[in-house]
Amino acid sequence: MSTRPNNLPTLRRRHAVFTLSALGLAPLARAQSAASRTTPGQTLGPFYPRSAAERPAQTDADLLEFEGDRLLSRGVPLYLTGRVLDRRGNPVAQSEVEIWQCDANAVYHHPGGGAETERDPYFQGYGVDRTDAKGDFRFRTIRPVAYPGRTPHIHVRVQPASGRAFATQLYLPDDPGNARDFLFSRLDSDEQRALLLAFEPTQSASHPLARATHLTARIELVLA
Ligand SMILES: [Fe+2]
Repeated sequence: MSTRPNNLPTLRRRHAVFTLSALGLAPLARAQSAASRTTPGQTLGPFYPRSAAERPAQTDADLLEFEGDRLLSRGVPLYLTGRVLDRRGNPVAQSEVEIWQCDANAVYHHPGGGAETERDPYFQGYGVDRTDAKGDFRFRTIRPVAYPGRTPHIHVRVQPASGRAFATQLYLPDDPGNARDFLFSRLDSDEQRALLLAFEPTQSASHPLARATHLTARIELVLA
């Protein structure tokens, strides 16, 4: 390896990228470069709440619960933000965005979603937001965890103001369980990349849902 002084900035940059990957944090540019290709759809799965009875009492975009400053929900708080675009790159405003995922104990907020006695009562498990004029949506949730038979993922369903609903699942970059996952592994490498959340440290709590999170995940969803 050369140690010429004019190589130092490159080496430092490489080191910074390596450090981010070692932490499981990928540069944001990774998810954003996939624009214009439509995002691959995936099944809703068995734990999508199909009726009001299967949904939690609250369905807002904040899936966490606090007592003062103390976080009651188990798991790693995550600020999840994304953008919904059409194939030409135009924002799809006023779309209803739903997410759902299991809690830190691997139990879904769903009648068939695992042992009720194990369920974290302080994790909402499901939430709804609506895209703004830029197509952006935001949630406060937890970093997804694995449950038996599945690699960690967050389900998402988008219902545009007009047109068909779209559903898919969002994955962690570099999780060793991805390669063994029956749904993730059937995608080709471009499709897999399009469903990987891009992580970075939360930069600022400029949005209320970013507060009390150290981790931000971003995704871009391109509808057909
Ligand atoms: Fe799932």
